[in-house]
Amino acid sequence: MSTRQPSSFKPVGATIVGTGSALPRTALTNQDLMKVMDTSDEWIVQRTGVRTRLKIDQAAGESTFSLGARALQNAMDSAVIRADELDMIVCATMTPEMLCPASACRIADAVGAKNAGAFDLNAACSGFVYGLNVANDFIKGSGGYKTIGVVGADCLTTLMDYSNAGRSTAVIFGDGAGAAIVRATDDASKGVLAQFIKCDGGGWKDIFVPECPQDFPESVPKDPSKYCKVQMNGAGVFKFAVGTFPELIAQTLERAGLQASDIDMFVCHQSNARILAAARERFGLSEAKLYVNIDRYGNTVGASVPLCLDELVRSGRLQLGGGQKVMFVAFGGGLTWGSSLWQL
Ligand code: ACO
Repeated sequence: MSTRQPSSFKPVGATIVGTGSALPRTALTNQDLMKVMDTSDEWIVQRTGVRTRLKIDQAAGESTFSLGARALQNAMDSAVIRADELDMIVCATMTPEMLCPASACRIADAVGAKNAGAFDLNAACSGFVYGLNVANDFIKGSGGYKTIGVVGADCLTTLMDYSNAGRSTAVIFGDGAGAAIVRATDDASKGVLAQFIKCDGGGWKDIFVPECPQDFPESVPKDPSKYCKVQMNGAGVFKFAVGTFPELIAQTLERAGLQASDIDMFVCHQSNARILAAARERFGLSEAKLYVNIDRYGNTVGASVPLCLDELVRSGRLQLGGGQKVMFVAFGGGLTWGSSLWQL
């Protein structure tokens, strides 16, 4: 079989040209949680690294779609692009307002993206990293896509049980949204150097949100008070993450033919400060090379990685188009995990 490309073939690169974020205004501190459940600031900080998180005000109209639209608009402003230039919007979320339409469609409407395809992508905390890989591959693929908005938006506080029964899960999660604009470039060296999109479906029982008796694993009592609340086997997920995170980083480096020291920044899902510290120690990374903001936002699921990215760009530690190598890594419900190693 011939491997020759048609004469019209032109290698294309993908580059991140803008980032943005949007956060709810209301803080939910560890002290606030101590008023409604039996917990302490010390326990939460030691076990998770979270000091405060943000919570949407649903009565004021805050939701996944409203935060996602604001984050995407901010990313478009920073990239200096118009909404009609967007060819596609991918919204990574596990908390869409409705089953139909996708939050991405409402985001498209809110920002005025008339020429964009739009869909949601549910890979829980891995969603935004999956989305970056999707955007890169669509741009480098056959469809002629040039400008893609990747949004990560989640409002897990809507799925929490803020009583003693839910305390080991409720202390972790917060709300937020982040976005990136990925654009085609003639510089084919830019874009994803190596990536993984992985899932172990057998691990679904470790993080799930039941809505009816059939949604519970066989061994778990079918308790209606748990409907629409995140059920998480924290210790099981912790064990999975501490093993999988470093393995995923090592596999991605190997696929790219690089060492950890070649990477300028690791932008990792903010699941738990202890999981991040374990990964950092495993590769001998300095604190400056693995960004942490879980203390201020908690685990914001699909929003966690783009919130880090936007802060790094706005503070000047990452320069878009500047050639730095950045590894995005995440894991979450599914169980899912994924990586995306970019040359910016
Ligand atoms: N305050 C005080 N004590 C608590 C709290 C709390 N908020 N929560 C639990 N405890 C108690 C427990 O009752 C238990 O007490 P006991 O020993 O007397 O029985 C003790 O603390 C230990 O409980 P564990 O649940 O075993 O606590 P653990 O050390 O595992 O920490 C945690 C729990 C923070 C959830 C941890 O397991 C973790 O971070 N797991 C990973 C979660 C994660 O990363 N998820 C990401 C994916 S999420 C997604 O994709 C949607």
